[in-house]
Parts: sequence; C-alpha cells; structure tokens
Amino acid sequence: MARAVVLVLLVAMSSAAYADPVEDGAEVFKRCRACHQVGENAKNVLGPQLNGLLGRKAGSVEGFNYSDANKNSGLVWDEKALADYIKDPRGAMPGNKMAFPGIKDERDVADLIAYLKTFGENGKQPK
Ligand code: HEC
Repeated sequence: MARAVVLVLLVAMSSAAYADPVEDGAEVFKRCRACHQVGENAKNVLGPQLNGLLGRKAGSVEGFNYSDANKNSGLVWDEKALADYIKDPRGAMPGNKMAFPGIKDERDVADLIAYLKTFGENGKQPK
C-alpha cells in the first residue's frame, strides 16, 4: 500500500521534470508575479504588464512610469535581450529600476521566455 503511493509519487515527479517548456515557464513566472501581470486583464502593477513582449520596444507600455535607463535604452525585446536582462537585470541595463536579482539557471530562463512568448499583444494565448 505505502509502496504503491511512493511509486505514484515517483512517476508524478519524473513526469513533472519533463513537462513542456511553457508549463515550466509558467512555474518560473511565479517569481515575476509579485510585480508583473500577463494575460487578457493584465495591468501595470509594480512593473509593466508583459503581454506581446517579444518584439516590443523597451519602455513602451502606456501609463507605466519607467526609469530613464529603460526608456532610453533603444532596446527591442528579442530572446537574446530578454535572456540577458532576466539573468542579470542590473548588469544588462545599468540604472534600471527592476529590483530583481536575476535568474541564473539557463533552462529556467529559456522556459520563462517560451511561456512569455505565448501571450499576444492583447494577452490572449493561442490554443
Ligand atoms: C520587485 C518587482 C519586480 C520583479 C520581481 C520583477 N520585475 Fe520586471 N520590472 C520591474 C520594474 C519596476 C520594471 C521597470 C524597470 C524600469 O523602468 O527601469 C520592470 C521591467 C521589466 C521588463 C521591461 C519591460 C518593458 O516594457 O520594457 C521586463 C521584460 C521584465 N521586467 C521582466 C521580468 C521578469 C521576466 C521577471 C521575473 C523573472 C521580473 N521582471 C521580475 C519590477 C519587477
């Protein structure tokens, strides 16, 4: 009996380890959620909403009070710029005001970007 439970748990754990990047990315995004929203009703909170982020100009969300460092960066968020920023926000964009130490794990960063990519400009996710 107890053995069966352990087996079920082991199977559940190993399948979680191989879940798809988007699902894993949703987990990683929990670290951003204190400050950022995505989805159809996403609003600016401590940080700007992150819908349609890939291809978006840095500092361009209406109504969010960005730092000059962000606004004047001239950056367009592509995968490389985003990965650099998520890994080391201060290093990648000196003077920006995102109080986040960064995520060092390459796979977490890749999964997170895969997840963020699913949100269109209107916050909708294709099925
Ligand atoms: C403590 C709050 C906080 C956390 C946690 C946080 N951010 Fe931010 N983020 C901000 C703030 C504030 C800004 C605006 C920075 C500026 O204007 O300098 C920002 C800006 C950004 C931008 C630039 C958006 C744009 O429109 O140019 C991206 C991308 C971003 N954050 C992604 C993330 C991701 C991904 C995570 C999780 C790994 C995360 N942030 C975690 C507060 C946070």
